[in-house]
Amino acid sequence: MTLYNGRRAWIVTGYDAARQVLVNHEDFSSVRDDPRFPATAPRFEAARKIRNFLGMDPPEHTAQRRTLTASFTVKRIARLRPHIQQIVDGLLDAILAGDGTADLVPQFALPVPSMAICHLLGVPYDDHAFFEEQSRRIVQGESSLEDSAAAFANVRDYLADLIETKRRTPGDGLLDELITDHVATGGLDAADLSEMALLLLVAGHETTANAIALGVLTLLEHPEVLARVRADAGAVPGVVEELLRLLSIADGVPRFATRDTEIAGQSIAAGDGVLVAVAANNRDEAVFSDPGAFDADRAARRHVAFGYGIHQCLGQNLARAEMEIALASIVARIPTLRLAVPADELRLKHPAGLHGVVALPVTW
Ligand code: HEM
Repeated sequence: MTLYNGRRAWIVTGYDAARQVLVNHEDFSSVRDDPRFPATAPRFEAARKIRNFLGMDPPEHTAQRRTLTASFTVKRIARLRPHIQQIVDGLLDAILAGDGTADLVPQFALPVPSMAICHLLGVPYDDHAFFEEQSRRIVQGESSLEDSAAAFANVRDYLADLIETKRRTPGDGLLDELITDHVATGGLDAADLSEMALLLLVAGHETTANAIALGVLTLLEHPEVLARVRADAGAVPGVVEELLRLLSIADGVPRFATRDTEIAGQSIAAGDGVLVAVAANNRDEAVFSDPGAFDADRAARRHVAFGYGIHQCLGQNLARAEMEIALASIVARIPTLRLAVPADELRLKHPAGLHGVVALPVTW
């Protein structure tokens, strides 16, 4: 494929080939600030300078990620479920108290992950609107390189201040825990912590927000699945897994080859950029039969919507919990929910690598 700047890169469309690339972190690097790293849009040029573990290889990646893994296990995330349910209930109360119409992107899909990740990290609740705005500017396709960089700088400054405040007056969020366990003991410096927090905030906002908005849309387009979600709580995790496969929100996972190698019989030269086409991998007919169909009974868990290998999404249990609670609750509380405009009039977001809708007008 040809990238926005004319550079050529390999695109990996098959499921097995994708896993071969993603599992092989020795031949395929994630390091963002290497000139060989393929930027898929101008705004990712700004991201080159960001030092977080998504853009690191081992051993740095291993050390940083290890400080967080215990906080994102299925068990730890299960403890957050009552709080996520409270967030979702509050947002639905506000929507139902309104005038019978809503835009589910700003009123539901974005605040759920935003409020949840702020709560988890121990970022003051009053600041979540600030994060939603900055995160939109960072990842949204329309934003310019300058705008995206300015939004990053805003969040970075905010986090540096917050970490300083928390060092003096500790609270009880994940950031506070990391300060006590890793910064205070010299294992992690405050600047690294700030970059990690920035990664969690940005990665935790828009991805899940897009998944919730497109998830509601997909359920509205498939009333038979929607009816099952409403009738049977046990069906919800399977439906969410199939949505993750079908929607493949985070598409085009970038790497570059560190040495000459071969994938699916194709020679890849050292320095070549490689993009793993997640949506195509998740529709590989050799793995998923009738891959374009939304099949709630499919055992879809093998999908690569969260990537694969050492960088596989750290927040996947959180994303699943948020999607399950948000989707099950909205269809239960608003049984007559429907789109307020024809589906083909919905504006799609077009940022490289992230699928979503700009707005989701509904009525009931
Ligand atoms: C439906 C929602 C989500 C999707 C589809 C998604 C997708 C992905 C993918 C594909 C990767 C791998 C990138 C690569 O290999 O280069 C990734 C990594 C990551 N995700 Fe997610 N993500 C989602 C939600 C979240 C949430 C809620 C968090 C919040 C904490 C999060 C935090 C991260 C982090 C920290 C990484 C980097 C992991 C590493 O480099 O070791 N993600 N995500």
